[in-house]
Amino acid sequence: MRILLIDDNKTNLLFLKKLVEKLGCEAVTFETPGDLLLAMPALDYDIAIIDFQMPVYNGVELLIEIAHFEKYRDKPAVFVTADNDTATRMAALGAGAIDFLTKPVNPLEFQARIRNLMALVDARNKLADKAEWLRTEVEKAMAELRAREEEIIERLTIAASYKDKETAKHTRRVGFYSEAIARAYGLDEALCADIRLASPMHDIGKVAIPDAVLLKAGKLTEQEFAAMQQHTTVGHDILRESRSSLLKLAASIASSHHERWDGQGYPLRLSGTAIPLVGRIVALADNFDALTTVRPYKEAWSIERAVGHIRERAGSQFDPECVAAFEQALPSIMSIMLKNADDAVQDRGSEGSTTDSIVAA
Ligand SMILES: [Fe+2]
Ligand SMILES: [Fe+2]
Repeated sequence: MRILLIDDNKTNLLFLKKLVEKLGCEAVTFETPGDLLLAMPALDYDIAIIDFQMPVYNGVELLIEIAHFEKYRDKPAVFVTADNDTATRMAALGAGAIDFLTKPVNPLEFQARIRNLMALVDARNKLADKAEWLRTEVEKAMAELRAREEEIIERLTIAASYKDKETAKHTRRVGFYSEAIARAYGLDEALCADIRLASPMHDIGKVAIPDAVLLKAGKLTEQEFAAMQQHTTVGHDILRESRSSLLKLAASIASSHHERWDGQGYPLRLSGTAIPLVGRIVALADNFDALTTVRPYKEAWSIERAVGHIRERAGSQFDPECVAAFEQALPSIMSIMLKNADDAVQDRGSEGSTTDSIVAA
């Protein structure tokens, strides 16, 4: 252990140094508070023994200066004083001293006190190590839990893709687009990341839609379209009971990504801000991706055309603030598009046959 000794009297300093070394400790000695303060930033010690009466700074003033350095704030400090005045002792306690030694120092008493403080420092260090160990263990457990949640989401999305035949790249793009829009909207980073992970499950409810409807190449009848719409409520039912906040977010997205700002969407015909914000964001991302990729019933639209289409529908189909965020996020969206281009043409878009209903898949 390293013991800091400061005393303007050289003889006292040498005497204390010897006592400290007899205890197996290393003494770090200073004769003036000025020298000590200069060395403070690079100093390392466990216990400070401070002479109270010194020129320029007295012990209390010195201790107040030392407390400005965060790393020394909790180090035990002992005052050595000939002064029995209660006011002096109270001032020292107020400045953070935890013990006093009276001059002339009795070697046995000094060593007993220092030994006690060494035990205290040792216990503190062990406690701090344990707290640090616990903190890293909790962090590791949280990261593991999060990784598992993310894996469950990925596996669910893969399972759904066998039935829906939407490419993995479509769902991944929707995730990244949604994240970019959410970020431009001003949502905090953690929520943006959650939106990226949860939004690829927006169509998970399609696992419950009969193949005759889901895979039908032609125009859906009114009845079939009604059946198709149920993928929103089914998706919500699959995910909503989860204890995972990510899956709950995914449930909210599944149920609300076909709602429209003007209340003409489904399943609940919610309008405006009654639609969860995540649903409004994912609706935009999903539509943009449907517009800009090849579907069996349409060519891939140019970005300009798709953006124009979305802009025209700000305030009717889409939340105008989300459209503004989408436009702001366009540079990121374009680079996501380049990095995640489809390598195969999707064999089915989604429900409906008019552009508006198709692209709302
Ligand atoms: Fe959908
Ligand atoms: Fe989709």
